[in-house]
Amino acid sequence: MQSPSHIDSEDLPTNLSGNETFNAVVERVRRRRGFLKAGAGLTAAMFLAGPLTAYARQPAAAGVTGQGSGLLGFEAVPVSTSDTVIVAPGYTATPFAPWGTPLFVDATNWKADGSDDATAQLRQVGDNHDGMHFFAMNGRNDEGLLVINHEYTTVNKGVYAWLFGTDRNAPLTADRVDKAMNAHGVSVMHIARDASGKWVIDTGSRYNRRLTASTPMQLTGPAAAHELLKTHDDPTGMHVLGTFNNCGNGWTPWNTYLACEENFNTYFGTTSGADTRNAAQKRYGLAPGSTDYGWEAFNDRFDYAKEPNEANRFGWIVEIDPFNPDAVPKKRTALGRFKHENAAFTLTAGGRAVVYMGDDQRNDYLYKFVSDGVYALDGDNSALLDQGKLYVARFNDNANTDDFMGLGEWLLLDKENNPKLAADTRFASQAEVLINTRLAADAVGATKMDRPEWVSVHPATGEVYVTLTNNDKRTETDGVNPRAQNIYGQIVRWRESGGDAAATTFEWDIFVLAGNPIKHADRSDLRSGSANITPENTFNSPDGLAFDKAGRLWIQTDGKYSNTGNYEGQGNNQMLCADPVSKEIRRFLTGPKECEVTGIAFTPDSRTMFVNIQHPGEDGNSNWPDGGSALPRSATVIITKDDGGVIGA
Ligand code: FEO
Ligand code: CA
Ligand code: CA
Repeated sequence: MQSPSHIDSEDLPTNLSGNETFNAVVERVRRRRGFLKAGAGLTAAMFLAGPLTAYARQPAAAGVTGQGSGLLGFEAVPVSTSDTVIVAPGYTATPFAPWGTPLFVDATNWKADGSDDATAQLRQVGDNHDGMHFFAMNGRNDEGLLVINHEYTTVNKGVYAWLFGTDRNAPLTADRVDKAMNAHGVSVMHIARDASGKWVIDTGSRYNRRLTASTPMQLTGPAAAHELLKTHDDPTGMHVLGTFNNCGNGWTPWNTYLACEENFNTYFGTTSGADTRNAAQKRYGLAPGSTDYGWEAFNDRFDYAKEPNEANRFGWIVEIDPFNPDAVPKKRTALGRFKHENAAFTLTAGGRAVVYMGDDQRNDYLYKFVSDGVYALDGDNSALLDQGKLYVARFNDNANTDDFMGLGEWLLLDKENNPKLAADTRFASQAEVLINTRLAADAVGATKMDRPEWVSVHPATGEVYVTLTNNDKRTETDGVNPRAQNIYGQIVRWRESGGDAAATTFEWDIFVLAGNPIKHADRSDLRSGSANITPENTFNSPDGLAFDKAGRLWIQTDGKYSNTGNYEGQGNNQMLCADPVSKEIRRFLTGPKECEVTGIAFTPDSRTMFVNIQHPGEDGNSNWPDGGSALPRSATVIITKDDGGVIGA
């Protein structure tokens, strides 16, 4: 989600610890290397473009803005300010399953005036599509389960923008709150190509499922049943109702889906008039009074004065088995509690499960979970994410090799085995470390980042990339740190020591500094971006991120779309594609007005791509995808190449 006028709690830093910021480390490294030395002849942009010997086993980089390695086979599209999806020439993008689409045979058709009630919404596709994965049926490319997060429903200053259509200003009621809760969560959709080749939902399928803010779920792992997770309705501390603000996602090789709970704090307020928040509730950003969503006025569990532990039951990674519609979703406490963006899965050299995760808040952290158990190819992996080690990243300087900028460490968040946490009386047990992960990460000295969003692992090299979307409230404004107010964002990558995801040290580098060379033409000005940013591919606020099987890096933006001032010439939010070898970045798709582009999935043959368009018209200026005077609706778009080829090739 984005835009400060809306619910965007990640805009407000809640991390008041003394840990060093990532930008400060970068600037220190640059100074050490004479990076910004006057007259040194090496501009910031040139430095960041640097030789890419990181991929020594791959063909040499052929220049950052010219010829690539051949990985990108499509023609770039220019920026757009139109209210439509535009995709590279030779490709077709078709809207699919917008908010309100009937998901079951007994579902009612979406009412174009937005007047569907809570019961209708429960049987329809939810709102604000975000993270997504395609689980192929028996390896098929024309049939599978498309699982989609419905992150939230757009609220502007307490008014639901689109959920109740033209009747948006009527007072909130219990049914309206229920409708909002039912518009959240996750959809599992059984989809297939019909005889004409068109993708359709099989509304009769037993796999179709809506998980909402009310669906029964289970807390598992080391923190389950802890006192801090118990409520009046659940004295066991194990049985939660619902999931919400599911942002990015992950998926496992045993065919489960990972839904990530992000800005859960924005749903918890109080009508009591008293600010009873403790330090942990403040660190997680719970509001001092009422919320924009208003659920706390109708449901006591969202009022933290009445039910202080309910918010502790959100902010987790939720594992969902899409192939078992009866399976209770599991909130995996071993992976920590924070504002989870996505969950990038890989395996260690020894076969243990690794999940990389960002905490999307200004000055928050990057995490890694490593399972104790080993992935069983044909065995039971249902408890693999319940026991393991959780680490948080610290970025230092002094890289071992010339092509990367610095060294990093994974700091263990373990009550018994990290002396700092062992001595910290705020945590009585490992369960409390996991429930208040942010406080534990503060205590061990993690590096404050510029809002970690999606993480993705290169399918061949194992190098890991993360989008740091922006941090425009940064206050460090010294002359050699021109990105102190980082409005454009960057993509950072790292290489685990020994190429093993189990390593506790790594080397890191900046893959791209997003910037605007149209507005900031002087290429020694870091606001112009690194050398792989050009007037043609300029963008801001990288967010969604995913490698495809061939190693193309798809980059989606959730940024400012004013197209003026610092954002001049950047147009609507968009999706680009990068070649990790040459560092070339090319724009592939532009979204409609006032949307963000998010969520990436493919069929196994990489010939069908699924992308989500979230909150078109969040400020009231879009009618996508239906056109005319229709309410705008979040929707998936299905992208195919007209010659049937691999997307992006
Ligand atoms: Fe839901 Fe951090 O984006
Ligand atoms: Ca974002
Ligand atoms: Ca996001």
